Amino acid sequence: NAPFHNIMVTGGAGFIGANFVHYVYNKFPTVHITVLDALTYAGNIDSIKPLLGNRVDFVHGNICDANLLHELVPGHDAIVHFAAESHNDNSIADPEPFLATNVEGTFRLLEVARAYDVRFHQVSTDEVYGDLALDDPNKFTEKTPYNPSSPYSAMKASSDMLVRAWVRTFGVRATISNCSNNYGPYQHVEKFIPRTITNILEGRRPKLYGDGRNVRDWIHVEDHSSGVWKILTEGRIGQTYLIGANGERSNIDVLRSILRVMGKSEDDFDWVRDRPGHDRRYAIDATKLRTELAWRPEHTDFDAGLKKTVQWYIDNEAWWKPTKAAAEERYRQQQQ
Ligand code: NAD
Ligand code: DAU
Repeated sequence: NAPFHNIMVTGGAGFIGANFVHYVYNKFPTVHITVLDALTYAGNIDSIKPLLGNRVDFVHGNICDANLLHELVPGHDAIVHFAAESHNDNSIADPEPFLATNVEGTFRLLEVARAYDVRFHQVSTDEVYGDLALDDPNKFTEKTPYNPSSPYSAMKASSDMLVRAWVRTFGVRATISNCSNNYGPYQHVEKFIPRTITNILEGRRPKLYGDGRNVRDWIHVEDHSSGVWKILTEGRIGQTYLIGANGERSNIDVLRSILRVMGKSEDDFDWVRDRPGHDRRYAIDATKLRTELAWRPEHTDFDAGLKKTVQWYIDNEAWWKPTKAAAEERYRQQQQ
């Protein structure tokens, strides 16, 4: 039983948005979904094409387009906001699109949520909290002060602040979730895990940044979807919830696991120059979401999830191949 009947999902042709659309479509047959997506280099309509029809509509448009939002949003009972420029390396090469989409786009959406009193959920990242030392016994909680490092995370932090202000000043019915690193199907080949897998499939050597000891707190994308749905439907207005599944791994461990699964030598990769400002470690304490909303992740076996993800990229070359050369060309230019 879903409390919402007509939701708008921004960025629903991207990695996590598309997985969320599949999740809601499969679990809640009474919910209609309008996907609003600009189909940037990161969007792929093929990720949701089989679902388009009675219960899922697609609108090709930009979240910064106020007129379009005023046409589309009335009649929807919730907006779940995934659309973003999402890649740190791109934000270092050219921050400007991040300002437009992540900050102005969120502002435009908040203004229509306010105008039509529509429930709003902001999908955000643990990167707003900065990073932790490798030996820090603490993890991020909802009380950790914001301290973003990259242009990407600074713009996401800014957009979270807009949401908080629109709740307090205008009474917008909004919640925020900050999640750790996702993996799973439909992730763009610029990101670490898919880049590594598809490099190996194409006979290119994977790349490891810096000393490879940076730690990310991996969560399967379906567990992120279930967390967002929980918060949307049962979360308290004005609250922030962290989503994470205790999946801390160093980059070198993840890379070696992929090499092993794909039958390669564990040293079959290149060390490359570090990312400027590279966050050392992320780690999420999801106690609030677990205790208050009784949320639990289901995909807690990372090795099993990684194997399935490798198999997904092997089986779905037609999905990723058209974007691979351009992504590697961007990396080649960034490394110069
Ligand atoms: P993605 O880059 O794969 O997808 C982003 C989608 O947004 C694409 O379909 C793109 O076409 C669309 N988009 C971009 N600009 C737009 C605009 N101006 N108007 C309309 N659509 C636009 O990103 P993702 O990894 O799926 O991330 C989705 C959200 O989740 C982001 O807000 C990100 O900050 C957040 N998040 C990501 C992770 C992660 O591990 N990837 C973790 C926590 C939070
Ligand atoms: O923590 C959540 C964030 O996770 C999200 O907000 C971002 O949208 C998402 O992109 C992700 O950010 P990261 O920067 O952590 O992800 P990325 O996949 O770019 O890199 C993961 C780690 O792997 C990071 O420490 C950099 C490293 N890396 C990355 C690439 C692409 C490599 O060592 N080699 C690579 O080729």
